[in-house]
Amino acid sequence: MGSAAAKGHSLAFFAPDEEGEWSELRVAGTGYAVLTREFWTARQRQAANLHEVSYRACYKPQLPRLFIEKLTQAGELVYDPFAGRGTTAVEAALLGRRVASNDISPLSRVLAAPRLEPPDPEAVARRLERIPSGGAGSDGVDLSMFYHPDTEAELRALRAWLLEREADGLDDGVDRWIRMVATNRLTGHSPGFFSVYTLPPNQAASAAKQRVINQKRGQTPPYRNTRELILKKTLQLLKGLTGPERANLLDAAGSARFLTRDARRTPELEDGSVALTVTSPPFLDVVQYAGDNWLRCWFNGLDALAVADGITMSRKLDAWVAVMTEVFRELHRVTRPGGHVAFEVGEIQRGTLRLEEAVLPMGTAAGFAGLGVLVNRQAFTKTAHIWGVDNNAAGTNSNRIVIFRKR
Ligand SMILES: C[S@@+](CC[C@H](N)C(=O)[O-])C[C@H]1O[C@@H](n2cnc3c(N)ncnc32)[C@H](O)[C@@H]1O
Repeated sequence: MGSAAAKGHSLAFFAPDEEGEWSELRVAGTGYAVLTREFWTARQRQAANLHEVSYRACYKPQLPRLFIEKLTQAGELVYDPFAGRGTTAVEAALLGRRVASNDISPLSRVLAAPRLEPPDPEAVARRLERIPSGGAGSDGVDLSMFYHPDTEAELRALRAWLLEREADGLDDGVDRWIRMVATNRLTGHSPGFFSVYTLPPNQAASAAKQRVINQKRGQTPPYRNTRELILKKTLQLLKGLTGPERANLLDAAGSARFLTRDARRTPELEDGSVALTVTSPPFLDVVQYAGDNWLRCWFNGLDALAVADGITMSRKLDAWVAVMTEVFRELHRVTRPGGHVAFEVGEIQRGTLRLEEAVLPMGTAAGFAGLGVLVNRQAFTKTAHIWGVDNNAAGTNSNRIVIFRKR
C-alpha cells in the first residue's frame, strides 16, 4: 500500500507523523492495512511503577496506553477479557477511564484490584505490625526447599491471617494490598523475594525442581524478613504516583468490575457498554499456568488444578479458533457502536504462524469491521529488552495487534 493510499486509511491516525511502513495483508479475499513502526519509544514517558507486578506473558503498559489514549475519552469504559495481572485495567484507571477486567484465574483479581486503591504506606506498616509472625502450624505442604524456617513461619502466619480476615468478611483494602504484594514476593531470584534463589517470580519451580536447584548451587534458604520486603515493595510500587493519578485510580475503583469468568460468557457486562477492549488472549500452549502458579494459588487458598482446568490452553489452532470465535461474539455484544477492540496476537512459533490471519475473519464474522493490524517494531535498547522479557521467554518477540471497530 503506497503512502498516499495509507493516508486516507482508517489506521492513519496511528501514524500522524507519517513514520512507519504500510503494507497490505490479504485474508480470504479481503485486504487489510498493516502498519509497522515503533509505537512506544524511549521519548515517551515511562510507565507507572504501579505496574511492576510480574505475570507470565504480560504486556507492557505502553500497549494498552496507545489505544486508550487514541480511542477513548475520559470516563469511558475500557475492558480486558483476559486480564492477567491487570495491565489494561491499571493503565486505563490511571488515565481516568472506567474499567472492567476479567480472567478465569482468580489470581488476576488478587493482583489487579488492590492497585486501584493504593494505600498509605504507614497504614501498611501498622497493619503488618498487627499480623502475627508465627504460630500458624503446617498444612502438610512442604516448603522447606524455598524458605528458611523462620521465613516460612511468618509466611504461614500471614497467609492464615489474610484467609481468616477474608472468610470473616473483615478484609479491607490494606489487607488486599498486602496480599497482592506478598503474592508477588513469594519466589524469585534476588534477595527482594521471600525465597532462596529460584526461577523468576512469575514461574514457581516445583518442589522437586527447587531441590535440584538448591543442590546444584549448594544453597540453603536464608532468612528473609517478610514484613520488611512487603514494605519495601509497597514503596517501590507507589513511587512517583501523582495526586491526579491517585484520584483517577480511586474514581475507577468505585465502579470497577473484576470478573472471574470464562471470557465467552460475561453476563455481568451490559450490552453496548464498552468503548474499548485491549487484550492479549492465551496463546497456543505457550504458558503452563497451573505449574507456574501453584505457589501463588497455595498462598491465596486457591486450588491450582481447578484454576488451571478452565484456562484455555489449546494445542491446535482449530480448537483455539473455536474458543476465540465465541469470545468475539461476546465482545461484539458488550461493545458500544463505534467502539473498538485491540486484540494482541504476539508472534508465535517464531513467526511461522500468523494469528492475525485467523483473528481477522473471527472478528468480522462476529460483526466487527476489521481496521487492520499494527505491528510494534521493538528496538532492543536495554530498557526495551527488560520490557520484552516476558514475551520473549514465551516465544513472542514483537507485538502484533489486530484492530476492530463495531459498526
Ligand atoms: C496472555 S495472558 C494475559 C496477560 C495480560 N495482558 C497482562 O498484561 O497481564 C492470558 C490470560 O488469559 C487467561 N485465560 C485463559 N483462558 C481464559 C478463558 N477462557 N477466559 C478468561 N480468561 C482466560 C489466563 O488465565 C491468562 O491470565
